[in-house]
Amino acid sequence: MVEEFSKVGVVGLGTMGAGIVEVFAGAGFAVTGVEVNDAALERGRGHLEKSLAKAVAKGKLTEDERRDILGRVTFTTSREDLADADFAVEAVPERMDVKRSVFTDLDRILPSGSILATNTSSLSVTEIAALTNRPGKVIGLHFFNPAPVMKLVEIVGTVVTDPGVLDVATEVVKRLGKTPVAVTDRAGFVANALLVPYLNDAVTVYERGLATREQIDAAVTEAAGFPMGPLTLMDLVGLDVLLDVMDVLWEEFRRPRYAAAPLLRRMVAAGLLGRKSGRGFYDYS
Ligand code: CAA
Repeated sequence: MVEEFSKVGVVGLGTMGAGIVEVFAGAGFAVTGVEVNDAALERGRGHLEKSLAKAVAKGKLTEDERRDILGRVTFTTSREDLADADFAVEAVPERMDVKRSVFTDLDRILPSGSILATNTSSLSVTEIAALTNRPGKVIGLHFFNPAPVMKLVEIVGTVVTDPGVLDVATEVVKRLGKTPVAVTDRAGFVANALLVPYLNDAVTVYERGLATREQIDAAVTEAAGFPMGPLTLMDLVGLDVLLDVMDVLWEEFRRPRYAAAPLLRRMVAAGLLGRKSGRGFYDYS
């Protein structure tokens, strides 16, 4: 069935969406990437081109493969162009009003048998599913940043997901060369429920002045073998994204380990979001 997919739609071409386009096109799917306007579309195309150039530079792709991947991607500002898509992944900003607009449209536009997936890391997949007339066909497909590189994809089922839909999603994720892990719709799913408190602890260590940012990062990369230290990773993922996840974890479980460090909240309020804003724990300008 998955081999017969004629088109996959990806809505939202920020860092995650553009990465997801790359992953699907890299696995041979024809992909249509959708953005709200031409400027956002060009930014999305830029993310994709930059990432593919990096993959070529690192010897992960040949020049011919890079060209073939780009040839499988179509860009549009019209969601209506997904009328013949078999599968869609949404990666728009983490706000329920924005998700509502996307899912209402996708539900109206895509054939009734098509699966709609959200890449949300902080909203309830069940609530998103309930926005549509096909809640059994709405799942979470949670990729990690950078999507072209990280292997894990959480497949989030809800209390109303059709079991067959989870089987198709598992097959899709395997076809992408990724590792599928089935999880239930709980705040943080599995990976973030473990990862985010650790990152938050690093902010607390920094906030208390127990170590410099470089020492904190080195402690983790050089002692524990992680590829990146926690403050560098937070800058990569986006402090706002992590704060959103922390807040839903806190809302759902009310455990002290999920209470966001005050400095994290202040940095987000000040617009210090990490690489994407030019400054987070480190300066990128
Ligand atoms: N395409 C394909 N492969 C790529 C690539 C690209 N664009 N960029 C890097 N790679 C490959 C490299 O070739 C290398 O592969 P090998 O080990 O097989 O040679 C590997 O990725 C690592 O690359 P580098 O060591 O050269 O380091 P880098 O700086 O280019 O990339 C990194 C670093 C992959 C980001 C690595 O530092 C890392 O894994 N960091 C941790 C990322 C992480 O934890 N992500 C999860 C965030 S949490 C999240 O996303 C969830 C949420 O909901 C908030």
